[in-house]
Amino acid sequence: MATFPSGAGNISQLNAVILGDALASEEFDLIFPSHEFSSQALVSSPQKYLEMYKRSVEDPAGFWSDIACEFYWKEKWGHKVFDENLDVRKGPIKIQWFKGGVTNICYNCLDRNIESGNGDKVAIYWEGNEPGVDGVLTYNQLLQKVCQLANYLKDNGVEKGNAVLIYLPMLMELPIAMLACARIGAVHSVVFAGFSAESVAQRIIDCRPKIVITCNAVTRGSKIINLKDIVNAALDEASHNGITVDACLTFENESAMTRKDTKWQVGRDVWWQDVVPKYPQVCDVVWVDAEDPLFLLYTSGSTGKPKGVLHTTGGYMIYSATTFKYAFDYKQSDIYWCTADCGWITGHSYVTYGPLLNGATVVVYEGAPNYPDPGRSWAIVDKYKVTLFYTAPTLVRSLMRDGDEHVTRYSRKSLRVLGSVGEPINPSAWRWYFNVVGDSRCPISDTWWQTETGGFMITPLPGAWPQKPGSATLPFFGVQPVIVDEKGIEIEGECSGYLCIKGSWPGAFRTLYGDHDRYETTYFKPFPGYYFSGDGCSRDKDGYHWLTGRVDDVINVSGHRIGTAEVESALVSHPQCAEAAVVGVEHEVKGQGIYAFVTLIDGVPYSEELRKSLILAVRKQIGAFAAPDKIHWAPGLPKTRSGKIMRRILRKIASKQLDELGDTSTLADPCVVDQLIALADC
Ligand code: PRX
Repeated sequence: MATFPSGAGNISQLNAVILGDALASEEFDLIFPSHEFSSQALVSSPQKYLEMYKRSVEDPAGFWSDIACEFYWKEKWGHKVFDENLDVRKGPIKIQWFKGGVTNICYNCLDRNIESGNGDKVAIYWEGNEPGVDGVLTYNQLLQKVCQLANYLKDNGVEKGNAVLIYLPMLMELPIAMLACARIGAVHSVVFAGFSAESVAQRIIDCRPKIVITCNAVTRGSKIINLKDIVNAALDEASHNGITVDACLTFENESAMTRKDTKWQVGRDVWWQDVVPKYPQVCDVVWVDAEDPLFLLYTSGSTGKPKGVLHTTGGYMIYSATTFKYAFDYKQSDIYWCTADCGWITGHSYVTYGPLLNGATVVVYEGAPNYPDPGRSWAIVDKYKVTLFYTAPTLVRSLMRDGDEHVTRYSRKSLRVLGSVGEPINPSAWRWYFNVVGDSRCPISDTWWQTETGGFMITPLPGAWPQKPGSATLPFFGVQPVIVDEKGIEIEGECSGYLCIKGSWPGAFRTLYGDHDRYETTYFKPFPGYYFSGDGCSRDKDGYHWLTGRVDDVINVSGHRIGTAEVESALVSHPQCAEAAVVGVEHEVKGQGIYAFVTLIDGVPYSEELRKSLILAVRKQIGAFAAPDKIHWAPGLPKTRSGKIMRRILRKIASKQLDELGDTSTLADPCVVDQLIALADC
């Protein structure tokens, strides 16, 4: 007999649902973990989960400090395990965990695992874009490489607290660079190597790094992308704004481009291979406070300016490690592959830190998951005997479209747990992932979380309870999700509303870099007393959570978070664009597509060329991944008399739900709606 939490985290509100009886007899499509899986799982039953969950919310200090003691602390934290104020009405928002504790996350990832006898264990299997090109690093070797780079950084003036911007593709050098920064207390800011020069410049101007680390080029699928040109343009732009960096350390990715083809600025640019290997393979750790910053990661919000999400060291370390361990039911013999890029939070918490803190073997893949053919992912799974595979629904849907034969011609016998992240996974994709990829054998961990949360918030624990295709299920330890209505009133039981979190958790972000006001306004003011996630969610009568997508002006394209305002501002930078309004529209593979309504300046005719050049403007300002799927010519936009664009109407037009336009009588000019409908297919 077991009961599930209602999701409110309030133990007194547990649903009286009896596993195996009431649940199993429901009309729900329930998928139970096999007895063999559950019996060996870290959390093997709902009872065990409930026991741990109950303690985690009733005694968070005791729960998390017991876990934290498994890691190395040079000095233990002060008398308070955590200190928080999440209520704007009571004063400034503050979240602190393990304050006064002195540690280092790089030491805990590498030295600690080596000291416990895992030095010769493989830390990273690296698989290049071209089949047959690969590399491997043991924990000992990884530490040596990290130390060499850390010594280079130190020698070049990088000190504790300084920012280092990293713009690298998925080479081994990317986690090496992150760890090297962490080793000396520098704050890394990784920028996804698909962002444009202007986006990189914007981030350089905001975080003022001492050094930028990049490489000359990368091969993605069959295309070569010249990353150094992008960085050069970004550095030029930053220097026009008065920000210069001390050095641009450039890894020579010979397979993509030679040195002589790389544009170089003598005095600023340095080849990684020329300097880093000359440094000693040992480097003393710089010990930091648990609340010292570890990294900054820019993410999209509802205004045009990306937000610098700041994570600190101690709480993030404990949280990324613990969530990884339980949500993937990690065992020392596992081989883990996460397809995310380290340019996003998933790559931070679940390519680099979470797995390495657990002493895991991680596969890092440089290329596209369907290159040279749609079977590549499973070829990699078979090659490295991957047991834990973590990806985004967009990849699942695209592979599903390519046909089962690309999957079934590979063995995939090694797989044990499958993971999903970044967007809601629709039940049909879930079933295909479960039945075809996992041969109806591997539980799926559909992990809901965000850049801001640092780690998983709502996730299955694969051996503990049955899954429902499309539901992220139940809260992780210490997480108290609540669903509120428009007025911020908590709704209990079966309901739909806005997803908020009550209380803090160790992995929570502490501020937005340089803008604590925006942090409070965006996340803590909408529903005072709670952290507001920006997502809609419903909870069923068993307490399972069903994420329904963003409720703000953020769209989720292939698991990439894009602010509509960012795309709009890129479009209006085009000299012939007078106004633009962007909405998300359902997309079969990408989850959401970008749909842009564009008003041209007077007298400019519509043309295919202009459409292309508008798309190019977005690619140039943000990156190719943010390019609109559709440009819809708009003689005017539907606005209220006070000038506010009615996006609700635009969303309906974009998704062709014309009979659901609702009341248009409040528009300043109701005729624009007919004009837009008439131009839908132009
Ligand atoms: O809308 C939710 C969606 O992705 C958003 C967070 O995006 P980002 O900060 O870029 O982090 C992505 C990786 C964690 C959320 O607000 N999201 C993430 N995971 C899920 C999800 N939506 C539904 N189900 C998920 N498992």
